[in-house]
Amino acid sequence: MKYLKIFSPATVANVSCGFDTLGFALDALGDEMTFTKTVEPKVVITKITGADLPYETDKNVAGAVVHKMLNDANADFGLEITIHKGFSPGSGLGSSAASGAGAAFGANQFLNERFSLVELVKYAMYGEEVACGSQIADNVSAALFGGFVLIRSYDPLEIKGIPVPSDLRVVALHPQIEVKTKDAREVLPDVVPLKDAISQWANVGGLIAGLYDNDYQLIANSLQDIIVEPHRKNLIPGFDETKTAALQSDALGAGISGSGPTIFALCKGNETQELVFNAMKKTYESVGIPFHIYKSAINKAGIKILEKT
Ligand code: HSE
Repeated sequence: MKYLKIFSPATVANVSCGFDTLGFALDALGDEMTFTKTVEPKVVITKITGADLPYETDKNVAGAVVHKMLNDANADFGLEITIHKGFSPGSGLGSSAASGAGAAFGANQFLNERFSLVELVKYAMYGEEVACGSQIADNVSAALFGGFVLIRSYDPLEIKGIPVPSDLRVVALHPQIEVKTKDAREVLPDVVPLKDAISQWANVGGLIAGLYDNDYQLIANSLQDIIVEPHRKNLIPGFDETKTAALQSDALGAGISGSGPTIFALCKGNETQELVFNAMKKTYESVGIPFHIYKSAINKAGIKILEKT
């Protein structure tokens, strides 16, 4: 193979109750990346469009991941990479994860798929460290596995794919402000009261059971975050009003996508998705901050190959 073009999806991490342990991938939003094999054993980023990101291999998430993989595999070739960002860094939709996961997937294709999916997650987590200083697995696992994922354990890394009910739909509203993951993690408490932990882990269990059983009521009951959201929502103007508007339009639940500022809502079916989309849009128009809003299905396939020669 000489050339590869892929789509790497945007992702919603945490999904309200599952801080650092749950995530899902989106169909409608993501990056395109190309990889071209070179004789010279070097990793070079030749083009970035859609965002202002570093070209230096060690500072660019994709460059750093590919460099590490080719190095670990003692590859005798190099790769030229182009990146087209389909959504903004700092959105809470897993921008660095799309780059890191896409890079790991792409490089592995040129290495005859020598690395397993879980090993690719580890490489992409290294990319997360380059981007934000923490090796977080939720966004990168969702991008690589597709669908819904649970990070059952970080050490050793254990990831479980969760079934996706077929009518599940997403609305994501991205206010045009930047919230850095590092800053959004610094506002969180180190210690959590036991009664809050009990509610939170009950909700994680409920959400997983609801996804397995296609039980939309159980999914709705479980989409609550009483540990992280109360601290982070202050970083997102208009969060409460927008969440309320989504719930009043029959969203199953709404919350902060990853570390924000994107506000996501999960809905049952296209009709409710449309109502929720309109309600969130109308509400946010009165907040006075420019925003983008997206409708999507859940991406069950993860990273997709678009072209290969
Ligand atoms: N789980 C992470 C967080 C996602 O909420 O900080 C951002 O990478």
